Amino acid sequence: MIKLEGLSKTYARVGAKAVDRLSLDVRDGEIFGFLGPNGAGKTTTIKMLTGVLKPDEGRVSLDGIDMAADAIAAKRRFGYVSDNPELFGKLKAHEYLNFVADVYGVPDRERQARIEEIAGRFEIADALAASIGSFSRGMKQKLCVTASLLHDPANWILDEPMVGLDPQAAFDLKELMRARAAAGGAVFFSTHVMEVAEKLCDRIAVIARGRLLFVGSLEELRARQAGASGEAGEDSLERLFLDLVDDEPAAEAAR
Ligand SMILES: Nc1ncnc2c1ncn2[C@@H]1O[C@H](COP(=O)(O)OP(=O)(O)OP(=O)(O)O)[C@@H](O)[C@H]1O
Ligand SMILES: [Mg+2]
Repeated sequence: MIKLEGLSKTYARVGAKAVDRLSLDVRDGEIFGFLGPNGAGKTTTIKMLTGVLKPDEGRVSLDGIDMAADAIAAKRRFGYVSDNPELFGKLKAHEYLNFVADVYGVPDRERQARIEEIAGRFEIADALAASIGSFSRGMKQKLCVTASLLHDPANWILDEPMVGLDPQAAFDLKELMRARAAAGGAVFFSTHVMEVAEKLCDRIAVIARGRLLFVGSLEELRARQAGASGEAGEDSLERLFLDLVDDEPAAEAAR
């Protein structure tokens, strides 16, 4: 369970708020998609949610544990795949995985089993003896996904995880996301790939300019946009998203 309450963030020397009083609940067992145009504030939100950035205002909690009150306990509750898979290039991949497993205190047998299972599924098991610097973008991404699951986290938070993955790996990642949600955790991820959000997500949120424009299921978004346009339809999420984000400057002007 992930809870964001009234989160705001303004970067130093930048006038506008990158994230503006954002509140969201991601329930246990659901896959939740976080959508919005470039620069909308998704990564900034995710960095606050994972404790990488401190919010100016607002609170974050994971399974009821407040990030500001007990960051270590809160951070144990999730696995995180950041939007940038650039890791320590000189480390060998297996050294990196063992380093992460040490940080989380994962016992030897468990870590070996998880590395074999996830790296095996992503077909990077044979490459783990090589240095990360020699990995392709997609291989680095797969390594980050593997590392994020080594402590078997309850919740999973991923920032544009499909970028750079080949079709097989993207399929495998979606299966893993479904399995985590089915095991009872919350899966929260940002994406620009509307087909993925449409097929995978129980609910979505759309943000633009740091503000929440919509949160709910695809059916709810359809009903809302049909109400706004006066036409009912079977519009794709892509169409609905573009209409919603397109309406936003008008809504802004009316405020
Ligand atoms: N380190 C930073 N310093 C200053 N401004 C920043 C920084 N990081 C992000 N911003 C600004 O904050 C706003 C939100 O950026 P953010 O990276 O959160 O967007 P995003 O929704 O993740 O975009 P994208 O889809 O391109 O990944 C943008 O206006 C961006 O210019
Ligand atoms: Mg981003």
